[in-house]
Amino acid sequence: MRYLEKDEWQIIEKGFDPEKQEASESLFSLGNGLMGQRANFEEHYSGPSLQGSYIAGVYYPDKTRVGWWKNGYPEYFAKVLNAPNWIGLEVLIKGERLDLFTAHTESFERVLDMKTGLLSRTFTATLPNGCTVKVTSRRFLSMHRPETGVMEYTLTPVNFSGPVTITPYLDGDVRNKDANYDEQFWNILDTRSDQTEGTLLAQTKKLDFKVAFAMKVSVEGDFSASNHHHTDLSCSNTFSFKATEGQPLSVTKFVGVCSSMNHPPNQLLKNAQLEASRSAEAGFTQLLLEQKQHWAEIWQQSDIQIKGDTAAQQGIRFNIFQLNQTYTGNDERLNIGPKGFTGEKYGGSTYWDTEAFCIPFFLSTAAPEVTRNLLLYRYKHLPRAIENAGKLGFNNGAALYPMVTMNGEECHNEWEITFEEIHRNGAIAFAIHNYLRHTGDLEYLAGYGLEVLIGIARFWSQRATFSQKTKQFVILGVTGPNEYENNVNNNWYTNKIAVWCLKYTIECYKKIERLNSHQLEPLIAKCKLQPKVELPLWESIANNMRLPYDDNEGVFLQQDQYMDKEQILVRELGRGTRPINQHWSWDRILRSCFIKQADVLQGIYLFEEEFDTETIRHNFNFYEPRTVHESSLSPCVHSILAARIGEVEKAYQLYLQTSLLDLDDYNLEVSEGLHITSMAGTWMSIVEGFGGKRVFRDGQLRLAPIIPDQWDSYSFRILYKGVSLKINVTREEVTITPHNNQEIAIIVYDKEYTLKGSGSLIVSLKTIKHEE
Ligand code: BGC
Repeated sequence: MRYLEKDEWQIIEKGFDPEKQEASESLFSLGNGLMGQRANFEEHYSGPSLQGSYIAGVYYPDKTRVGWWKNGYPEYFAKVLNAPNWIGLEVLIKGERLDLFTAHTESFERVLDMKTGLLSRTFTATLPNGCTVKVTSRRFLSMHRPETGVMEYTLTPVNFSGPVTITPYLDGDVRNKDANYDEQFWNILDTRSDQTEGTLLAQTKKLDFKVAFAMKVSVEGDFSASNHHHTDLSCSNTFSFKATEGQPLSVTKFVGVCSSMNHPPNQLLKNAQLEASRSAEAGFTQLLLEQKQHWAEIWQQSDIQIKGDTAAQQGIRFNIFQLNQTYTGNDERLNIGPKGFTGEKYGGSTYWDTEAFCIPFFLSTAAPEVTRNLLLYRYKHLPRAIENAGKLGFNNGAALYPMVTMNGEECHNEWEITFEEIHRNGAIAFAIHNYLRHTGDLEYLAGYGLEVLIGIARFWSQRATFSQKTKQFVILGVTGPNEYENNVNNNWYTNKIAVWCLKYTIECYKKIERLNSHQLEPLIAKCKLQPKVELPLWESIANNMRLPYDDNEGVFLQQDQYMDKEQILVRELGRGTRPINQHWSWDRILRSCFIKQADVLQGIYLFEEEFDTETIRHNFNFYEPRTVHESSLSPCVHSILAARIGEVEKAYQLYLQTSLLDLDDYNLEVSEGLHITSMAGTWMSIVEGFGGKRVFRDGQLRLAPIIPDQWDSYSFRILYKGVSLKINVTREEVTITPHNNQEIAIIVYDKEYTLKGSGSLIVSLKTIKHEE
């Protein structure tokens, strides 16, 4: 499966295999928060390839296509847009096109340097006309100047002298692979070209997003002629060289990309040109230096070092790198799609993945504003969530956030997910709690968070119904995190998080009443809240909710009927039946006891403080053998719980599964894009799993490190209430070093310490794990 070299800081592919090209295009993807692209070749490539260039926040509402329309379905499914190609250049060698699919490749190496976000490629290839060339290309998307992309392409004739032309271009003739009606999604409004410049203005056919691309080209090597050209859809500059054997020719393309998300539409072209000119003035070397400095700062807080296990080290850095190049956190209109900028799957939209997985990562590794912006994203979508709930028959300001969204509206259209996977509301509420316990930002709670919580509590209070039979509140007809069963009653996870949301909303209300009471009146008026009626109702529902439990097995029951299913374990499945979603009919999957991803265990993970080790172990031992982990979001949660109950080897195996999911292409689908959101789960497996980091409900920080047998040591950093702590774990001891001069209380294993800002705390590694 793995064709990539193991290296601590680089992803390296040696030798060219066209069958791997689409996988590599995903794996070597680049991004800078504002734009991203798959690792398509710069020169023409006629083999199988998924062209992908994406601009953050720019999407297309593709009209829904379903067999059987159901009331409540959204009109459209948002699609991430494949944007005009700005990396392209055409190379002709003695009149013949350089194309690695038709050329004979003698050597090939592609490297992604995660320290700097630089993608480079070197190859030597012989064209059908017998000419051999050596090419080195380097490119990156500037983190420092997020509207800048730059690429340098150097070609050396190896066995000939003769005419070579290189034509850098901008091309608007692009399509989405994922399009419901095969339409092209862009209008190209304007193209221009000049001796060493070109511009292209593109507009989405719906919603009127506009994006301007400007290139400025600089050339090294004597070109005998230059030309420029534009058509309705593209623009280009052509440089003709009388190339000499052994003499390199080099073209550098500085590209400015400006979108109407950030610029007035009538200034887009001008601003993109300005951006390209400024970068050209700075030059490739200076831009790369800035890039290195920028990444060094990111790595300073977010790096995890693992000694003694190169694969594990590469895996975690790859995950951290991808997360940081997908989301930089300074724009509350943006979010994190499950595939980031690496593919079209999942439409580039926002899922519960952000709150449940990405937020824990950003809370510990980036400034609090980053998480705050992710929370504000949902706050700003609250009116749409209320509208969405209204469409489904709920009222009085009840909010149901969408399962899949770009702008706050639901844009998914499978009933079992759109209407039933309502646990997403819980993750959004939980993220507010997570943010508060890490930052103590009560101002956010009073100004924004509580309003969201009220909408969510109202939803749960209406969605739960009272069963006359059992005299309990029940939540019927849902899909839990395990999407391998639908329309089930009383999914334990959903009911549990609903109870928590109701209680937490009351708690927050009372906190604001106590501490920021002046902010409560306007909020009550805005939400038309009737505290004396609604709060007691929420409380009574929360206190009397059905939380199914199986007395025979002594476990929380995934849903009322789970034990009626034939109980088989994953290890009993025959060879060649996995992944079951590629081998079994959907009907068979739904009837089986197999669990796609952490479900009861997801709840135990979130509310771990409520359970003793025996309860956790018992539930883990029951559910893990029934879980097929066919969602990338699954192994990380199981890994954390395995570490929690002292199953270190199991935790390690699950860690490897999550961290190398893409690099090893476990699910044979990396060609579609990377699993960006689950990469945060990989980070969680180390920091919360092996590191045992917790912030308890009362805001108390705790660490309880263990170390897998395969590692000599590991270290990570976390941010907590403004303090950055470095934690180093060896086979003998745990060293905790604070980096601010602030006093901080911390529990290590079960003892409380106060760190005073200077010097390190050293504690022996506890080998008997997590005894109560
Ligand atoms: C998972 C969901 C997840 C989605 C996007 C699905 O396969 O079951 O939980 O939100 O992928 O990552």
